[in-house]
Amino acid sequence: MLLLGIESSCDETAIAVVKDGRDVVASNVYSQIEVHSVFGGVVPEVAAREHLKVIDSMTKQTLQESKTTIDRIDAIAVTQGPGLIGALLVGISYAKGLSQSSGKPLIPVNHVHAHVHGALLGLGSDHDVIFPCISAVVSGGHTNLYYMKSPTSFELLAYSIDDACGESFDKVAKLLNLGYPGGPKIEKLAKSGNPKSYPMPVMVEQKTRLQFSYSGLKTYMVNLINRENAPFSGDRLADLCASFQEEALGQLIRKMKAALELKPDTRSILIAGGVAANHRFKELVSNSIKVPAMFPETRFCSDNAAMIAACGYHICQDLRGQNLPLPDPDWDAFSRYKYI
Ligand code: KG4
Ligand code: ZN
Repeated sequence: MLLLGIESSCDETAIAVVKDGRDVVASNVYSQIEVHSVFGGVVPEVAAREHLKVIDSMTKQTLQESKTTIDRIDAIAVTQGPGLIGALLVGISYAKGLSQSSGKPLIPVNHVHAHVHGALLGLGSDHDVIFPCISAVVSGGHTNLYYMKSPTSFELLAYSIDDACGESFDKVAKLLNLGYPGGPKIEKLAKSGNPKSYPMPVMVEQKTRLQFSYSGLKTYMVNLINRENAPFSGDRLADLCASFQEEALGQLIRKMKAALELKPDTRSILIAGGVAANHRFKELVSNSIKVPAMFPETRFCSDNAAMIAACGYHICQDLRGQNLPLPDPDWDAFSRYKYI
């Protein structure tokens, strides 16, 4: 089954063609980072207009690279939300038009759930070794843990009550004048730093439920940086980045371990989202998580459309398995502000 995936939830326009939810035939991502960097963050209206400029030509190019045409595509999967409403509407409206004109079914996909499929891409169909699993989506907008019995069942175990993990990297990088996105910049500097140089605040664990919080760590960093008379540079900057990164990632590790205790039949852990590209994160997971852990290829950690097409494929399979009809295309976008 060949799916066309369309993603436009934030500042990346992405189009992909994926076979059977696993094999990526072609995947293209246009990043708007340069357009937004002058503003120090993503400007929603600008993002929507940038998507509009490239979405049609990127779709044509991706189909061409796949040596296929829309007639040979079995279904179109598009990000329904969460995301920036204006940005989402560009992708959804385009996908609806394409679906109407080609007669191909249209599958709405949840962007956060789709990130998990970034880690599943290329893993093969032997789902017995993977499920039930714990999945972690650690991105600029979300820090979620799910318990999954199949590629389409998502039981939310934990989410952030304030900032997302990637967002805290971005905000701290901005304070240190490192630019956007902050994650890769902090990771690079942290490599030569000592993570024990600066003691960091550790979130008080809730006894009754799992949850993430990053605003305390961020506020601590704001106060620490503002207290200094001179800007951080050289070894001190590297030490500060390493100390912050260690606690930002340390919280993820502690919560993953707690989730594994809560769900002892877990066979594997899938880690996805932009922060999954962090090498220190991979190291910490391999040192302290006892079940096999799977990370996406770096190109499928951050926003892409291959994960959307793969997720759409599993939704189709699931509905067909239950003899249910594919979704009616009469639906709309949903914002990240209505979704945890
Ligand atoms: O998944 P993603 O591309 O977009 C969202 O859906 O949010 O994630 C982007 C986030 C940004 O906050 C970025 O700073 C963070 O992922 N990120 C990283 C790294 N690469 C990207 N965080 C830590 N270390 C990295 N190497
Ligand atoms: Zn994302």
